[in-house]
Amino acid sequence: MSKSILLIIGGGIAAYKSLELIRRAKDRGITSRAIITKAGTEFVTPLSVSALSGQKTYTDMFSLIDETEMGHIQLSRAADLVVVAPATANLMAKAANGLASDLASTALLATDKPVLMAPAMNVRMWHHPATQRNLATLRADGVHFVGPNEGAMACNEFGLGRMAEPQEILAAIERLLSGAGPLTGVKALVTAGPTHEPLDPVRFLGNRSSGKQGYAIASALADAGAETTLISGPVELSPPSRVKLIKVETALEMRAACEAALPVDVAVLTAAVADWRAQSQANSKLKKSESGPPSLVLTENPDILAGLARHAKRPALLIGFAAETENVIAYATEKRTRKGCDWIVANDVSKGVFGTDRNTVHLITAGGPESWPEMTKDEVAARLAVRISKALEKVA
Ligand code: C5P
Repeated sequence: MSKSILLIIGGGIAAYKSLELIRRAKDRGITSRAIITKAGTEFVTPLSVSALSGQKTYTDMFSLIDETEMGHIQLSRAADLVVVAPATANLMAKAANGLASDLASTALLATDKPVLMAPAMNVRMWHHPATQRNLATLRADGVHFVGPNEGAMACNEFGLGRMAEPQEILAAIERLLSGAGPLTGVKALVTAGPTHEPLDPVRFLGNRSSGKQGYAIASALADAGAETTLISGPVELSPPSRVKLIKVETALEMRAACEAALPVDVAVLTAAVADWRAQSQANSKLKKSESGPPSLVLTENPDILAGLARHAKRPALLIGFAAETENVIAYATEKRTRKGCDWIVANDVSKGVFGTDRNTVHLITAGGPESWPEMTKDEVAARLAVRISKALEKVA
């Protein structure tokens, strides 16, 4: 059956690549109907887009002169997939906030079809907290992303922000149209966040883990098609779409939830599990007393990662995290062997990574350490998902 996309072309220099995307999509039997934003028409013309697509091209709300022919709601739903390329910072911001101030943003709000965005913008605009916030919101809303890539930009700067190449966008389109990703058929388990170990009904032992990296990984695995279970300690994050979220409080609850989720093909344990819990919990609130503070007797929590490594249903690929403040690679390498996992993703937390959107990690595998450049937690997650799919291909 022939498929069609609604292509929204934003106002960026990368808009010229969308012409090639239309042509390549056509070669693959995919029809494109396009909306060009006002800024987009500064870069490509409706005439050139229509000449390639063989379809009418829409520019603004009022180009829909005859709403009976193709109203904006119908336009947003007639295609199998909505593709935004280039997705400018402005279009991402509008979509993340539900604005409907022009035809492109209205179509994005009105559609009931999956949306794929190919961001393109200056590197600083991409890394700006506002754009990263919008990216996180859009991901949580279920929007798919391809790119941006790293490289030289039209504005003479270098970094992340180049739009993905037409063939990459087309590959993502075909994946979404077929409903399959590189991890389709794979079962994944992710743990995230801190655990809270109660002392009494109102107090607990906890830590500063925000859960952001784990949530990003669960989201990236689900995006790649994996059937993903996220077991999360208490965090202030909205649940990622397409992920089965199980909320827990304590290390013991997290271990039980992990074991109940087995068998899985891959497990990524990012949670900052408390090493100790109170040996006994008071049933009522501990009171201040004249005899001074109560003494706290701690007992060790189970190591969930090490436990899964020895489990009869051990995941084929077991990945741990290691937050270190010194000798990051050496400690993480030792931890990989001691815990019996396949990979360790190590990060240096001496510079305060907790709660931020960025991370600098080293991937430690049997082949040794590999240092990744500093990037956003979403980018770490996307890269890790690619590595996981490659590794599982070899196992299969
Ligand atoms: O020993 P450390 O806490 O540094 O190990 C970190 C790794 O082990 C992480 O992957 C973490 O999720 C996991 N871990 C665990 N259970 C524990 C402690 C850590 O699964 N009790």
